[in-house]
Amino acid sequence: MSSPTIPHQLIEKIKQAQHIVVFTGAGISAESGVPTFRDAQTGLWAKYDPLELATPEAFQRDPKLVWEWYAWRREKINHVKPNAGHLALVELAQQVPQFTLITQNVDGLHQQAGSQNVIELHGNIHRIKCANKQNVVENWQQLDGSPPECPLCGDHLRPDIVWFGEALPVDAISNAFAAAEQCDVLFSIGTSSLVQPAASIPLEALQHGATVVEINPNPTPLTEQVTFSILGQAGQILPTLIRQLTA
Ligand code: OAD
Repeated sequence: MSSPTIPHQLIEKIKQAQHIVVFTGAGISAESGVPTFRDAQTGLWAKYDPLELATPEAFQRDPKLVWEWYAWRREKINHVKPNAGHLALVELAQQVPQFTLITQNVDGLHQQAGSQNVIELHGNIHRIKCANKQNVVENWQQLDGSPPECPLCGDHLRPDIVWFGEALPVDAISNAFAAAEQCDVLFSIGTSSLVQPAASIPLEALQHGATVVEINPNPTPLTEQVTFSILGQAGQILPTLIRQLTA
């Protein structure tokens, strides 16, 4: 397969940049084998709609079902590895004075690849917290399928994930928008740009005069507005971009 074309002007913009922001969605993990958020659920979970399960109401109604769904997703994610796209972003961070990585993903693959100080807008599936006090709990016992109890208050434990209808972590969202306002170049990679407020981050960068680049095999609502749209897979485009940047 021929290498994707990276516009020469984009390489020049990256070389001149003082601050680069990268904003990722489920698509960056697709080549690691993690189904994107909207991909069909498989196996016994096929009959469930993720939008039905990833809510506080679903957990209230049936904590065991929701807990088991996340245990199933965690198990699948424990068997996958970062792909060339994740690794290329670690290299990109070394090519610029300031680099901010913002992700909507909860799989932890950016950190596993070596990215530092990742801003996780929607939490992390590997982190567990008390459903009542919201404090992160490091050591917990998985007894039967039902959610373990908080060692401090006895309430259910739950995944430290932002569910539909829940607010995003305040620090994460304000740091993400601050970086978008200050950066010279922002990459929007592997996101359908549908879910707010995250989907407004690239627009914030555009409004502050940044060069915005979208990397996605498919067009999205953002495509019309970006400076550069590179249609293709992140795991192929990003390593090519790094090769051209460091040639
Ligand atoms: P989606 O599943 O909505 O979109 C994934 C995007 O990745 C699509 O636009 C695909 O075209 C693209 N894609 C697929 N394979 C790719 C590849 N190899 N390289 C690059 N792009 C690829 O996932 P998100 O946009 O991340 O929120 O969804 C955003 C949020 O919606 C999720 O974080 C979740 C959901 O509501 C919460 O859970 C709070």
